[in-house]
Amino acid sequence: MKRIENKVVVVTGGASGIGRETCLLLAKEGAKVMIADLLDVEGKKLVDEIKSLGGVAKFYHLNVTNEQEVEEVYGKIAKEFGGIDGSVNNAGIEGASKPTHEITEKEWDAVMSVNVKGVFFCTKHVVPHMQKSGGGSVVNISSIYGLVGSGDISHYHASKGAVRLMAKNDALTYAKDNIRFNSVHPGGILTPLLERLVKEDPVFGKKLNDAHPIGHIGEPLDIANGVLFLLSDESKFMTGSELIIDGGYTCQ
Ligand SMILES: NC(=O)c1ccc[n+]([C@@H]2O[C@H](COP(=O)([O-])OP(=O)(O)OC[C@H]3O[C@@H](n4cnc5c(N)ncnc54)[C@H](O)[C@@H]3O)[C@@H](O)[C@H]2O)c1
Repeated sequence: MKRIENKVVVVTGGASGIGRETCLLLAKEGAKVMIADLLDVEGKKLVDEIKSLGGVAKFYHLNVTNEQEVEEVYGKIAKEFGGIDGSVNNAGIEGASKPTHEITEKEWDAVMSVNVKGVFFCTKHVVPHMQKSGGGSVVNISSIYGLVGSGDISHYHASKGAVRLMAKNDALTYAKDNIRFNSVHPGGILTPLLERLVKEDPVFGKKLNDAHPIGHIGEPLDIANGVLFLLSDESKFMTGSELIIDGGYTCQ
């Protein structure tokens, strides 16, 4: 028996980085993986890859900041696959690296829109399907930057702190419906998101490795393993928890 055999799981931002690795691992462990992303080419390629490995996957074009699209995509998935068991709110953007007094309203809104409003819309529109089928597991991908400050990108920090607390509050609201909510807090993970930041500032890359007591940043599979656990019944007594996977970053 695989660890999440036959569970229908939606992964937003599933076409790249942490989301992509999560989709591959979930499919390997028996899930029917719904990849929801803006990146059509990458998303469809990942579906082909999962199918070639014997898994089940489908791609949906989705902009998480558009409520109508979110409602439609979750509705289509539930109809076609008979329900939704898991939802990973992973789509996220980093925002410009600037001190707070230099961030424009537009830059602030862009980060909040994807990282917070997107999680709100995806939660709002997955809950009714989970209530209908008797339960589920939702994972909000936050960050170590949702736990501690870095002296940079305050809009990103604010957004990741917000989804951490949303998971705790939704855990309380929906415990009676058997829907669990947890947040995952990755340290630095080598994905296109971080590659972009390191490209802008190579010194940042070296500093980032040094900031992790384990001596280096992590890889997407480190996070995918945590998400798999939270989606599976192995974590059935966990709700409102924060799973920190950061090579010791936040111990300091
Ligand atoms: N990489 C890290 O070091 C790190 C650390 C902590 C937390 N995180 C978080 O992990 C999550 C995944 O990040 P990643 O590093 O894999 O980044 P990534 O850039 O590789 O992937 C992000 C994905 O989200 C998608 N996306 C962006 N905006 C979207 C929208 N409006 N609608 C739908 N999809 C959208 C992108 O197309 C992309 O596929 C993010 O929430 C990020 O904040 C990453």
